[in-house]
Amino acid sequence: MRIAVVGATGLVGRSMMEQLSDRPWLDGSLRLLASARSTGRVLPFRGEDLVVENAAEFDPSAVDLALFSAGGATSRELAPRFVEAGCWVIDNSSAWRMDPATALVVPEINAHALPNRPAVIANPNCSTIQIVMALAPLHQAFGLLQMHVATYQSVSGAGAAARRALLDQIDQRRPADLDAPLGEATGGVFARPIAFDAVPEIGPADADGFFQEETKVVQESRKILGLPDLQVTCLAVRVPSWNGHGAVVRAVFADRVDRDEAVRRLASFPGLVVADDPLGYATPSEVSGDGRVHVGRLRIDSGEPKALTMWVAADNLLKGAALNAVQIADVLAVRRAQR
Ligand SMILES: NC(=O)c1ccc[n+]([C@@H]2O[C@H](COP(=O)([O-])OP(=O)(O)OC[C@H]3O[C@@H](n4cnc5c(N)ncnc54)[C@H](OP(=O)(O)O)[C@@H]3O)[C@@H](O)[C@H]2O)c1
Repeated sequence: MRIAVVGATGLVGRSMMEQLSDRPWLDGSLRLLASARSTGRVLPFRGEDLVVENAAEFDPSAVDLALFSAGGATSRELAPRFVEAGCWVIDNSSAWRMDPATALVVPEINAHALPNRPAVIANPNCSTIQIVMALAPLHQAFGLLQMHVATYQSVSGAGAAARRALLDQIDQRRPADLDAPLGEATGGVFARPIAFDAVPEIGPADADGFFQEETKVVQESRKILGLPDLQVTCLAVRVPSWNGHGAVVRAVFADRVDRDEAVRRLASFPGLVVADDPLGYATPSEVSGDGRVHVGRLRIDSGEPKALTMWVAADNLLKGAALNAVQIADVLAVRRAQR
């Protein structure tokens, strides 16, 4: 397969390139695309220097599959052009996720939703992926009815500029001594300054007071799990961690939850790691660079035997974005080889 990465200079795009570098099915060319700002930049891939091209001027018939991570506006503008030219598109933005005609895929859960001919395939929101990964095996065992989520999302979830903003704000806000107040800073790419703080605002708010990141978790979870009536609430918080998202998930099931069975189901689900020991939980930094979703702090509610609360941590750039996208490409590559 001839592949293009659109948004190759970004955090997700570079992570995609790392994932692609060890894929045996990628034996042909890789084309790197970004905005006009980055045209001519050189990025290494498998020991070669590849030159970044302007996505707006690229001929999509030159590739069979394009991995997009260049924001919603770029996807809306360019992805249909790629599909018309016969190219598969796996898109990391939110542009197509809730389009009824577009598959929204976490391969371990709903690879069956993948289309049979070139189309846009949507990669879900980063928090949503790790949450549904932890819930899918529990749903199979106990029947999921409700979930209540609070996310703790790292700065890398907002892209390369957000990491720079955190470092700048740490310098600006650093107190003169332990009793001094924090210095002033602007939010930069965040709603409010993130250094030494936590900001419960990700994306624009709707009329009911939900922010866009929260609505994504609600709607996308229902679509991926195939549960249109699932009751979901989410409160999304940006925290000043460097990479990796955490989520507290309280799930209510139709059946009583047997804890040992829950641990067994989680442990045998592909791509999941479960810590049975209360002290065995993983932090976002600890899971950075690990493609698996880590589940810990499992508790059955004392007054509600059908409810389970857990802590879920994953690398938002890997399973939350680049790895999930490349795993979708893995499925397409296998299908192509079987034709
Ligand atoms: N970060 C995450 O954890 C995460 C998780 C899931 C989904 N996503 C989604 O993935 C996408 C990229 O996120 P990121 O974190 O990698 O952001 P980023 O670090 O800011 O990178 C953005 C990339 O998009 C490119 N781009 C911007 N405008 C473009 C245009 N008009 N035409 C072509 N390329 C353009 C940039 O190229 P230049 O270098 O030329 O500006 C850069 O390569 C976003 O849609 C984001 O919502 C991110």
